[in-house]
Amino acid sequence: MIIKGLELHNFRNYNSLTVDFSPSINVIYGKNGYGKTNLLEAMFLCCVGKSFKSVKDTDLIQYGKDSYKVKTRIDNNICKSISVFYERNKSKYVEIDGAYIEKLRMLFGNLIGLVFSPESVRVVTDGPAYRRRLLDIALCQIKKDYYYSLMMYNRFCEEKGKLLEQGTAADPIEMESLNENIALYGASIAVDRKNFVAQLNELAGKYYSEIAGERETVTMRYEPFIHSFSGAVNEGLENENRSVTERVKEEFLKELSDERLMKREREFRKNLIGIQRDDIGMFLGGNSLRNFGSQGQKRSFAIAITLAELEILRQKSGRTPVLFLDDVLSELDSSRKRKIIEMTGKIQTFYTCTEKEMMGAAVAGGAPVNFIDVEKLR
Ligand SMILES: Nc1ncnc2c1ncn2[C@@H]1O[C@H](COP(=O)(O)OP(=O)(O)O)[C@@H](O)[C@H]1O
Ligand SMILES: [Mg+2]
Repeated sequence: MIIKGLELHNFRNYNSLTVDFSPSINVIYGKNGYGKTNLLEAMFLCCVGKSFKSVKDTDLIQYGKDSYKVKTRIDNNICKSISVFYERNKSKYVEIDGAYIEKLRMLFGNLIGLVFSPESVRVVTDGPAYRRRLLDIALCQIKKDYYYSLMMYNRFCEEKGKLLEQGTAADPIEMESLNENIALYGASIAVDRKNFVAQLNELAGKYYSEIAGERETVTMRYEPFIHSFSGAVNEGLENENRSVTERVKEEFLKELSDERLMKREREFRKNLIGIQRDDIGMFLGGNSLRNFGSQGQKRSFAIAITLAELEILRQKSGRTPVLFLDDVLSELDSSRKRKIIEMTGKIQTFYTCTEKEMMGAAVAGGAPVNFIDVEKLR
């Protein structure tokens, strides 16, 4: 999968831009604040329809303008171009090969992308929301029904929140039906997340020792906020008549229907259990990485997770994702740089950095590099 070029109109600091890329390594270099990250952001927007930063679409429109347009020209056997158009206060308009797509979920999988930046370490150091976001962005791109389940789950939780506002006056039949749907979509998401984390766990350990050169065992574990999840999964394996997901759904529904929980939910006026509170446990030699890992170990772990994700995205989609490495060259020593370049050899990669030389030594004698001076694009 290759991005051949990018066209921007009134996107962030770019008025109007057309740029071509190399199918292997692209290095976008230039001073801070010149618009390097903005280019990666625009390309990633064509992968999942959203920025990789947590920002609103209006923030992407150039100051003083009313709309933006981003178009990537692509070389893969699914499509040749993806365009995202957004006008202030209107809904987003996405086209694949010039044809409008009605649902955002139809975009996923056409162009698969993965971002790694200094912010990525937050997956390891910060709260569970960062880890759920990682799962959601990856799973949306490789699993057809994942985004739909997530939308439905959130919609039913929102409805339930409104019903809980009514306290004891809430219609129990309506509540039961909402819980039924929350359990249905929640179970499907939880099982997908569990499988994904299991794959991450298998690969991340291998990459960690390659990058960090340490022998300590690295483990990742899905920590669902459905208390009966593990029991249901294990029992589901023994009972061939019911799928694991069905089993999880049933147990989750039982939990949601518990009188004590329902009383607490009425007090808090929200849905208190479920996948919105999931987490991933990360351990180094059996100890919590977040509490005991050094800065360097956390950073290596974050890189290992990205490489593991890359491998899973590739396996599950049967295609090669595009990799965006924002500002990471300054943080890596030359042996790690070389390691990453070696491991991502056959993948189209976009690096950003402030000095052209940051890349130099690491690729000497290796793949050809397309250097792009961001100053010339402005
Ligand atoms: N909506 C916008 N309209 C115009 N300029 C913007 C907008 N959003 C960000 N910018 C500008 O983009 C620049 C930051 O771009 P960025 O890609 O993050 O730079 P860097 O090269 O450091 O990665 C800043 O100068 C900022 O003012
Ligand atoms: Mg930047």
